[in-house]
Amino acid sequence: MKKIAILGSGQVGDALAKGFLDAGHAVMRGTREPSKLADWKSKAKGEASVGTFSDAAKWGEVIVLCIKGTAAEVTIDQAGVANLAGKTVIDATNPIADEPPQNGVIRYFTGPNDSLMERLQKKAPQANFVKAFNSVGNMFMVNPPFTPMPTMFICGNNAGAKQETTDILTKFGWEAADMGGVEVARPIEALCQLWCARGMVHNDWAHAFKWLSLG
Ligand SMILES: NC(=O)c1ccc[n+]([C@@H]2O[C@H](COP(=O)([O-])OP(=O)(O)OC[C@H]3O[C@@H](n4cnc5c(N)ncnc54)[C@H](OP(=O)(O)O)[C@@H]3O)[C@@H](O)[C@H]2O)c1
Repeated sequence: MKKIAILGSGQVGDALAKGFLDAGHAVMRGTREPSKLADWKSKAKGEASVGTFSDAAKWGEVIVLCIKGTAAEVTIDQAGVANLAGKTVIDATNPIADEPPQNGVIRYFTGPNDSLMERLQKKAPQANFVKAFNSVGNMFMVNPPFTPMPTMFICGNNAGAKQETTDILTKFGWEAADMGGVEVARPIEALCQLWCARGMVHNDWAHAFKWLSLG
């Protein structure tokens, strides 16, 4: 059993909090407004609590970031850089801009040679960021009902943190594929654009990626 801090009160936070509680972990959700999660807390099964971003980041052994992309950097400040030091920070965020999609392609505020996770890693250099869960809809994040088993692409600079994330993904019914260091967040974040384009163009939201390799 681990103490999992989930920074985020949205759908991704809901899905992952349930997954971690069902797997027997303790969960604290972090939000700017803890009262908004009172209902979630009263209904959650298991060791569930709610606090500020800072309360959760301080308490958690593993941090899961599920924050609106444009607010992710400021949330790191609110959580407290020191509270993240030495911890695995699973980063499910995407750098989605506020402008509307263009013919099914959601717009990013980052460019092709930049990524949100690189910005976050620079802001909190002692934290061990791992990109994961960003390239699938929240309804499929835990126990995805696809055959064969889909692939979750991950990346980050710390091998131990990637192993810890891989273990979580395995438990949640995913095959994890470690694609490299923090810079690989550029193409992994872009996968969310591809995942959403299929949904917006064909109104088909029930899909996930699979990696095929001879290696
Ligand atoms: N939805 C999906 O299926 C999905 C799938 C893959 C990845 N993602 C990514 O996961 C992240 C979370 O997505 P989500 O759909 O769960 O929720 P969201 O609406 O994108 O984000 C909600 C969270 O962002 C926080 N936040 C902080 N400052 C904010 C501000 N100024 N304005 C709005 N929100 C602010 C909210 O804090 P408070 O709690 O204080 O309100 C809340 O916890 C996003 O980066 C998204 O791109 C989403």
